[in-house]
Amino acid sequence: MPVAIRPAEPADFAAVATVIDAWWGRPVAAALPRLFLDHFHATSSIAEDHELAGFLVGFHSPGLDGVSYVHFAGVRPDQRRTGLARRLYGRFTDQAREAGSRELRAITGPSNTGSIRFHERLGFTSGGRSRTTTGPASR
Ligand SMILES: CC(C)(COP(=O)(O)OP(=O)(O)OC[C@H]1O[C@@H](n2cnc3c(N)ncnc32)[C@H](O)[C@@H]1OP(=O)(O)O)[C@@H](O)C(=O)NCCC(=O)NCCS
Repeated sequence: MPVAIRPAEPADFAAVATVIDAWWGRPVAAALPRLFLDHFHATSSIAEDHELAGFLVGFHSPGLDGVSYVHFAGVRPDQRRTGLARRLYGRFTDQAREAGSRELRAITGPSNTGSIRFHERLGFTSGGRSRTTTGPASR
């Protein structure tokens, strides 16, 4: 079944919260409270086939001029390496450009090597002042 991507809605929080710890393989749900979907659903995306296949939660920073930020992006294990996260990031990047952003930032844990490799493939670099912020939070 093809995977379709649509804008997120606040009600998507329940489905995301249900799978997030299993998809990450460790407890990370506390870092994605409901407020993110309540306030940033319009700039977040949901991917679905017969169920939730992936998601991206991000926003265009109200405080940092020209910066858009991805807080969480995840893909269901059986859908990984199919280009789905690249599609989710592509959609967000297009929206960011339209919103006037010039820089994309994301956060991931220093031990999450798969995520770091993924972001590198997308052109991110690590470091506080570069395009990807690798933070101490384990996600
Ligand atoms: C990281 C994650 C989102 C990647 O999703 P994905 O849909 O498998 O990624 P894609 O298929 O779009 O891959 C895009 C590119 O990254 C590469 N890539 C993806 N995962 C990779 C990994 N673990 N190691 C090395 N490269 C990887 C792919 O090979 C691909 O490269 P290419 O297009 O140049 O050939 C997914 O593995 C995931 O959900 N992990 C658990 C949650 C997580 O850590 N999220 C990120 C932090 S918020």
